[in-house]
Amino acid sequence: MKGVILAGGLGTRLYPLTHATNKHLLPVYDKPMIYYPIQTLVKAGIKEILIVVSGPHSGHFIHVLKNGKEFGIDHVEFAYQEKPNGGIADALALAEDFADHDSITTILGDNTTDADISTAVRSFKKGALIFLKEVPDPQRFGIARFAEGNPKTIVEIIEKPKSPPSKMAVTGLYIYDYQVFDFIKKCDPGFAGRNELEITEVNNFYIKANQLTWAPLKGYWLDAGTFDSLFLANAYWAKKRNPKLSRDL
Ligand code: TTP
Repeated sequence: MKGVILAGGLGTRLYPLTHATNKHLLPVYDKPMIYYPIQTLVKAGIKEILIVVSGPHSGHFIHVLKNGKEFGIDHVEFAYQEKPNGGIADALALAEDFADHDSITTILGDNTTDADISTAVRSFKKGALIFLKEVPDPQRFGIARFAEGNPKTIVEIIEKPKSPPSKMAVTGLYIYDYQVFDFIKKCDPGFAGRNELEITEVNNFYIKANQLTWAPLKGYWLDAGTFDSLFLANAYWAKKRNPKLSRDL
């Protein structure tokens, strides 16, 4: 299994920090943010990784990651997303040649988690597997609607619902088979009214094809895309690495 980290986007919610560098290179306690998704993939046994970058600071990544050897990566590649805010699915489309008809584990570059996804990665066969997490504020996320009386089956994923049908949010970790690239080609930039190719639409294509399964993401998970969540991610990892800080934070 190969891995893809999506580190494009413009990170506008973190201006002025992201005027200085790319969001995924900002600090989360003692490491640049992108170290966390890299570690999640490496821990799951994935050693070939494509990193999709974009925007004005995309050149900064190579100084930080070099050839990936210090992470235990055998092979790291970079791809450049020309439309920096084309959407998550637009960024993932760039992984088609890299995937070479194989399945891929994809993780958003601003998602930090200590979950171990290695069993899911090892046992994945086909279709799509997404990881869900219960959240207190479902209006902010892509939310799963389950079949009546059967929480194993997702019948729809609704992007930022006003009346959420559940509290189970789609996290930024996904495992897809090769079909993902055909589904992306069918995406409509008007799907969520943002002129972006949306990963939620891709996941709904898998649902319609009866090929989407899900697993709970066990452990801590947060995206670090806003000032508050970036602060909380810093606090979590600071306390985890240095428990003495718990007293002060
Ligand atoms: P978002 O947080 O939705 O978008 P963003 O990073 O551009 O930030 P903002 O909304 O503040 O402008 O993106 C979530 C992750 O998806 C992010 O870590 C990077 C990735 N991404 C891409 O790779 N390409 C894209 O076109 C977008 C929109 C996101």
